[in-house]
Amino acid sequence: MKAITVIPKKEGSAQLMEVSEPEIHEGSVLVEAIAVGVCGTDVEIVEGKYGWAPKGKEHLILGHESLGRVIDPGPSGGLKKGDLVVGIVRRPDPVPCPNCAVGEWDMCQNGLYTERGIKEIHGYMSERWRIEPEYAIKVDPTLGILGVLLEPTTVITKALEQIGRIGRRSFWEPETVLVTGAGPIGLLAALAAKQLGLEVHVLDQYETGSKPDLVRELGATYHSCTVSELDFEPDAIVECTGVGPVIAASIQKIAPNGIVCLTGVGHGGVLNTTPVADVASAAVLRNNVIVGSVNANKRHWFKAGEILAKADRKWLAKLITRREKPENFMQALQRNNDDIKVVIQFSEV
Ligand code: BGC
Repeated sequence: MKAITVIPKKEGSAQLMEVSEPEIHEGSVLVEAIAVGVCGTDVEIVEGKYGWAPKGKEHLILGHESLGRVIDPGPSGGLKKGDLVVGIVRRPDPVPCPNCAVGEWDMCQNGLYTERGIKEIHGYMSERWRIEPEYAIKVDPTLGILGVLLEPTTVITKALEQIGRIGRRSFWEPETVLVTGAGPIGLLAALAAKQLGLEVHVLDQYETGSKPDLVRELGATYHSCTVSELDFEPDAIVECTGVGPVIAASIQKIAPNGIVCLTGVGHGGVLNTTPVADVASAAVLRNNVIVGSVNANKRHWFKAGEILAKADRKWLAKLITRREKPENFMQALQRNNDDIKVVIQFSEV
């Protein structure tokens, strides 16, 4: 079968190649790939900056934002042929650490977790893949191809849960949330925050185009200014850009008792104008919490499924701005200004 592979840490090694069928040890459920979303992590892996091949192997099959159709459910009983499923990304570390032991692998403490398409286990960018039944999440069949948005929604579900839990350390009734970055993660954050009944603001650099439109269609407010230029102090900020100056400004803009949740993975952004101790003092004097959030556990996958099922399908459909064939995977990895989510489509829904 065909698969999109990479030799991790080797730039320019990505290719569509013939690989053997998935092995039974990868799971008793056999799935035909429908689509796989492309994200910044995939780009980093292809650029040779991130990613690990399975132990003893040279290649890693890419892809962690999956959607597929069950061809053979195996003996598990919970799934049937034809079900639409998405595969969970992370697997607990084998030790296991206390968090992995209780199923909170997203909070793994020893770093020995594995991740499909990212760290030591093959991903979902192959014509067929196998999965353990307990890591296959059934998606609402009426979502069709939109089920491919489940994985990025899990990342946001976890981030919002973290904010809610931290907020409960004191009396806290948040009203306003700012989302920085109107990419797929930012827009899904806006959708989920709107469903929670919050006043949602989204900030990005584009003044016109589909991003501002999508934000307004949600009933949220779009801003194309800088974070420091905003005329309000948000109770919570979901930072989805990973851009240094945006992060620094967010920490300085947050309301008293407010929480900044960082979800973007960026590089660089030296703070040569803002003394770190001043940023820290502002956080101390206003009881702010700055928290990083990565990955998601089964609770978040379940909740994310509910968020997508409740969302307006027409709005969700506008997030998928391009579908590429597997042979055009390099085009899929290149981001155009008007791209939101690009998917590689292996078969029809
Ligand atoms: C994925 C997460 C993963 C993280 C770090 C993200 O792109 O969505 O599931 O934990 O990369 O590898």
